[in-house]
Amino acid sequence: MKTIELKLGERSYDIHVESGLLKKIPSILADQNHGQKWIIISQYNLMELFGFDLMSKLKKEGFECDYITLPIGEAAKSMNEFSRAISQMIEMKCDRSTTILALGGGVVGDVAGFVASSFMRGIEYYQIPTTLLAMVDSSIGGKTGINIAEGKNLVGSIYQPQGVLIDPAILESLPREEVISGLGEVIKYGAIRDVEFLNNISEWLDDIDSFPFEKAVQRACEIKAEIVSLDEREDGLRKLLNFGHTVGHALEAHLGFGRIRHGEAVLLGMKCAGWISEQLGFLSPLENKSLNKIIDKLTLPNVSKVDPNTILSFVKKDKKVRNGILHFVVLDALGKGNTSELVSETLIMNSLKVIR
Ligand SMILES: NC(=O)c1ccc[n+]([C@@H]2O[C@H](COP(=O)([O-])OP(=O)(O)OC[C@H]3O[C@@H](n4cnc5c(N)ncnc54)[C@H](O)[C@@H]3O)[C@@H](O)[C@H]2O)c1
Ligand SMILES: [Zn+2]
Repeated sequence: MKTIELKLGERSYDIHVESGLLKKIPSILADQNHGQKWIIISQYNLMELFGFDLMSKLKKEGFECDYITLPIGEAAKSMNEFSRAISQMIEMKCDRSTTILALGGGVVGDVAGFVASSFMRGIEYYQIPTTLLAMVDSSIGGKTGINIAEGKNLVGSIYQPQGVLIDPAILESLPREEVISGLGEVIKYGAIRDVEFLNNISEWLDDIDSFPFEKAVQRACEIKAEIVSLDEREDGLRKLLNFGHTVGHALEAHLGFGRIRHGEAVLLGMKCAGWISEQLGFLSPLENKSLNKIIDKLTLPNVSKVDPNTILSFVKKDKKVRNGILHFVVLDALGKGNTSELVSETLIMNSLKVIR
């Protein structure tokens, strides 16, 4: 088992990564069981795949365990579902000692984490991510939240879990498009922080059916953990994790959430950001070409019909939410991300030609 420590003083925690880990969860958590209630927050399909089995193993080891399900999709990240989960916990007689197990992708992790951060002013929780995106990104770093009519993730908190338990073997049941979406974030880590990792990913992608997920997830988690320990509240370094996300978020908003996956939008956004980095003289043409070659190994959605003006309006909206300054993430080299305030709206609009 690979254990990565996310160092945050008193709030430090371990990220465990190992194929087959799911079966070991009762023994890993045994020390933390003091007779309190354990609530698995998940989705019904995931309960059938992994949750009911996990629950019966936990019960066998003396855990008092129950579960709550959320709907599928972004609809679960709503005020309604959030308060429904809280009410169910009250009904189940949960109290301040209750521990939540968030079993699912980013949607489950974001809602369950937010429930944990606010139920009776905050209770303990663990992340058990089941999508590639959640394993390498959303389960680590403590960002939790829900959406409101005015926009995505506008209500939430930074609230760290007690631990993250990752079993890459369960990716086997994940639909191919979800895997590709997660690979978008994996490539991002190589691009901003580790060129050797990026080159490995490139080689691994030549035979995607034997992609070494365990290795890739471990390295991605190390990079995310390092960045979060250095900058938990996104004052500086953590901004680099937004590489590909300025255009990516705008594509998601323009096409409508659910029409393009987050990681797919990020993959396209990284192509735009690579082009911008080259135009500004940060990234050499050769390096930008290899970045594109890697991204093009994946099947990407067709976005030829997106309207550049609409994309720009979403970029502007995003900027407004972020104090009016656009910290655009560029690459100084492959494996070396940086932020720049020099990126104009015209440049962003022109960059769309590389994906349209
Ligand atoms: N908190 C953060 O730091 C952070 C970071 C990035 C993204 N996010 C959020 O994450 C969300 C997206 O998460 P996601 O991409 O994991 O999508 P998701 O949670 O919607 O999961 C995708 C689908 O796959 C199914 N699924 C999950 N694991 C499975 C498995 N092992 N086998 C079969 N099916 C499985 C789910 O039931 C769901 O239908 C967005 O809401 C985004 O805002 C949060
Ligand atoms: Zn992302």
